[in-house]
Amino acid sequence: MPVGSLHNREVKLIRHVRGEINPEDFAIMETAIPVPGPYEVVVRNRWFRVSISTRLMAQEDAKAAEGIPFPPLNPGDTLADGAIGEVIQTGSACCFPVGSLVMHPFGWREYAVVREHDCKLIDCSEPDPVAYLGHGWTAYAALTRGVQMKEGDTVFVSSGAGAIGSMAGQIARLLGASRVVGSTSSFNKARWMQDELGYDAVVTRDGGPMIEQLAKAAPEGIDVIVDMVGGEQLAAAVMMAREGARGVLLGALTAELNAEKASLQAPVILDTFHIIFKGMTLRGFSADHSPDAFEFWLRDLKTWKRDGRIHLPSVTFKGIENATFALQEACAGRLKGVVLVEL
Ligand SMILES: NC(=O)c1ccc[n+]([C@@H]2O[C@H](COP(=O)([O-])OP(=O)(O)OC[C@H]3O[C@@H](n4cnc5c(N)ncnc54)[C@H](OP(=O)(O)O)[C@@H]3O)[C@@H](O)[C@H]2O)c1
Repeated sequence: MPVGSLHNREVKLIRHVRGEINPEDFAIMETAIPVPGPYEVVVRNRWFRVSISTRLMAQEDAKAAEGIPFPPLNPGDTLADGAIGEVIQTGSACCFPVGSLVMHPFGWREYAVVREHDCKLIDCSEPDPVAYLGHGWTAYAALTRGVQMKEGDTVFVSSGAGAIGSMAGQIARLLGASRVVGSTSSFNKARWMQDELGYDAVVTRDGGPMIEQLAKAAPEGIDVIVDMVGGEQLAAAVMMAREGARGVLLGALTAELNAEKASLQAPVILDTFHIIFKGMTLRGFSADHSPDAFEFWLRDLKTWKRDGRIHLPSVTFKGIENATFALQEACAGRLKGVVLVEL
């Protein structure tokens, strides 16, 4: 079918988000599909990821921050996130054949016109979208590049049921951790983390002082911290650190999912003497700086999946009309694993 006769629907921000996600801040609009330039392809999207970071970037005072892959959104902008789709038309100078599957950063729309340079070819006709769009590779990069895990380490993963955390707990174990502790909000999620993801122990946000909970969950101390939360959880993990402990900081959900207002400021008081005396390392990390880890992730994932040693937790919503509801549910903490929309 000629591209000009197709209709595209995309989700746009119509007014800045204030506080929690309100579906009325977004609208689905019909748009024409532009003719691709010589180095562009038209992609029919099949899946896209929904990330909680969208809430932060849709606020009025959102600022572009170095290292954050999402630009701030203004009314009229189309939302964006990782997507997988099929190339249906190519510009005159493109190499990808029509019919190829590609991953690219322009989800939240049914059709995307993308520079070929921004597409990653998927060498598989029926890919598992969670393997590509999920945050297994982020967790893998954090544990193999951000911090050097050692056989026998005790690992603490904050937000251990989330998109990154649900993978980090499992991957830490597969890389040789002897004890894996995670954090979450509810007893139900904690039970799921232990039954399905293999966590040895789980601490909860409203289960009492974090330092006391962690002391019980990891009585011999923590060697590796994979932190997505910051705040009290990071401070407590530092206090429980063992000699030579290493921490990789990926996010600050206390600030990002703050009920009143998402924020890019995540101050926390850490006992620096403890860091000094224990010879600890704390490192901020973005998986985007280790793109080479992606191929290694797919390679190891293949083996772990074949042997039935890994789950890829996800929730998939069908249809672009359910995408903002998916974002609302993700930001409200009602989902587990990565959140996708299938088109
Ligand atoms: N560095 C990188 O390469 C990289 C890449 C992608 C994302 N990130 C960042 O990493 C962090 C985690 O991303 P993600 O996509 O995996 O998110 P996520 O963990 O799936 O985030 C959603 C979860 O956060 C938890 N949560 C909600 N409100 C919270 C609060 N006030 N305090 C603490 N936790 C709260 C809830 O889980 P529970 O109910 O289980 O508590 C909720 O289900 C984010 O800050 C994100 O921006 C970093």
